Parts: sequence; structure tokens; C-alpha cells
Amino acid sequence: MSDAETAENLTTLAKHLAAQDLDPGLATVLEGLALGCKAIGHRVRRARIEDVVGVAGGENVFGEIQQKLDVLSDEVLLQCLRDAPAAAVYASEEQDGPVVLRTASEGGRFAVLADPLDGSSNIDVAVSVGTIFSVLPNDKPDDETGMAVLQPGRNQVAAGYVLYGSSIVLVLATEAGVDMFTLDPMLGDFVLVLAKIEIPQEKKIYSINEAYVNDFDEGLRDYLAFVHESGYGARYIGSMVADVHRTLLKGGVFIYPATGKSPQGKLRLMYEGNPMGYVIERAGGAASAGRGPILDRIPSEVHERTPVIVGSAAEVDHVTRRTHP
Ligand code: AHG
Ligand code: MN
Ligand code: MN
Repeated sequence: MSDAETAENLTTLAKHLAAQDLDPGLATVLEGLALGCKAIGHRVRRARIEDVVGVAGGENVFGEIQQKLDVLSDEVLLQCLRDAPAAAVYASEEQDGPVVLRTASEGGRFAVLADPLDGSSNIDVAVSVGTIFSVLPNDKPDDETGMAVLQPGRNQVAAGYVLYGSSIVLVLATEAGVDMFTLDPMLGDFVLVLAKIEIPQEKKIYSINEAYVNDFDEGLRDYLAFVHESGYGARYIGSMVADVHRTLLKGGVFIYPATGKSPQGKLRLMYEGNPMGYVIERAGGAASAGRGPILDRIPSEVHERTPVIVGSAAEVDHVTRRTHP
């Protein structure tokens, strides 16, 4: 066998970040998040086992474990960030407000936001779930460190997700581009498998929960009528991380729109829309909130929601031209 065939892939995340000359403080924050996601992935794999081992089956118990897994995932990320010297403040879907870790004068240079476990309602049927993270610069005076989590997505310095699927995949976007790593169970580390990912510019795949079609605005219903008669494929997993990851690699568009009942949609701006929007834009795609880019939205509250239309630029434009003429 040639050397190439026998050589192990040893380009670990840490090696890759060092080779990119990434800010060392940012690199330790990202490596901390990756460590936390390895621990979360292990727990997700054992969710059902713990359920059986823990108490005799049944929805409520699993519901309890599910809630435990959301909260446990959050605690794991927080624990890892406490050990990352440049982490200033943490906010997440599971925390009421920001958790200040260290001020700028104590070395806290980055604010981290996370959806610790996205798609958690899918765990009991073994469908892929994920962790989403967003990193912003801590640009605040010491006594306002908590406010560093409220910045437009345009200010992000890094963002990404870990998908707990048939393999455990880390997708990381920085100013250098979008890279994909797979957790090598033998090494126990993430190794680089795809570098500088570019989203396909065209693909006839649309991803939306059509159960709510009667609550969609007319423009969106127009778009759906068009795709139904234009040879598009429909894909919807119901875990944002899985739906966006497919969109990144295959192209097309993922939509979680505003509806009559939820005028700002369901997904959260700061730890779902912004990080996923950053990944897709860095890969050459588009990320719209309908009237304009997700990343340009000025947040007023850490848990506020946003409509999400992300994917191949041409397809996103096609949707927004119909929904926001
Ligand atoms: P979370 O589990 O973090 O609350 O997120 C669930 C979200 C997202 O993963 C997915 O895109 C969306 O819920 C699916 O919502 P519907 O079931 O309404 O389609
Ligand atoms: Mn989520
Ligand atoms: Mn979640």
C-alpha cells in the first residue's frame, strides 16, 4: 500500500488551528468547546441506556433524562469554558441570563453563546442532534461584561456546530473559512476531513416544516407552489443542526419562517440564527431573516427569535424575492 493509504489522518483540531495562526486565546476557547462536545456526544449515545438503567422506561422518565441532557450539556460547556482563560462570558438557551466568567482585565476576551443540545426532542428516536456555538469579541468595560453577549452576528469571530449523527462531526467557521472535522474514536480527537467548504451554488432541495403551511404568508405559499411543480426534493429532519449541515454540503435552502402565530419564527437569533448564518455565509451562501441578513439584526434580548432562510445564495434570494418583494 502507498504511504498515503497507510498514513493516519493526524491533523487534529489543535494542530489545524495552530497552523492557521488563529488567535491563541480563541483557539483555547474553541478547543474547550470541542472537548465539551466530545463529552456531550458520549452522553447522547448513552441516552436510552441511562434511561433503561436509570428507571423503568416510559415517556416521563425519558422526558426527565431529555431535560437532564439539555441541562447537562449546558453544564459541560460551562465547565469547559471556565477552564479556557480567554472566555469572558457565556449565554445559552438553558441559562436565563449571561454567566460572567472573567472580565477583560482578567483576560476575558471572548463571549460564547450556545444551544447546548439542538433538536433534543429527537433523542428518544435516535435522530441526529447537535450543539451550536457562537463566539463574539468581549468589547465591554469590566462592569458591563455580561452585555458582550448582545452584539449583531456580523461581529462574530467564530461559529459552528457539532452534529451527533452516524459520526460526530465538528464544523467550524472562522475568518479563514469553513472546515469540517470528524471525531476519530481511535484517536479520541477531531481530525480535519474537509477544508474550506463552499456551499453548492444551486440545488433543488427545500427544507421546511410544511405542517404549518396554513400559517405561512402568501409569498411563502407561492414559493412552495413553485417548488412543488419544479422538480425540487423535500428534506426535513427537524433538527436544525442536521438540516443545516445537509444544506451546507449538498446545497438548497433551509427555512424556519415567521408565521401568523410566531411573527419572529421559532429559532433563536443569538445561538441558532447567528452561528448558522455565519457558517453558511463564510461558505459562500446566504442567511436571511426575510427583510435582510440575519447577521445584521441588532439584538435587544439574548433569547429573541428570528426567521431563518439559509442556504445556496440563489435559492435564498428566490425565497426572499417572493416573501419580501
Ligand atoms: P431545540 O431542541 O434546541 O429547542 O431546537 C429545536 C428546533 C430546531 O432544532 C429545529 O429546526 C426545530 O426546532 C424544529 O421545529 P418544528 O418541530 O416546529 O419543525
Ligand atoms: Mn435549537
Ligand atoms: Mn436546544
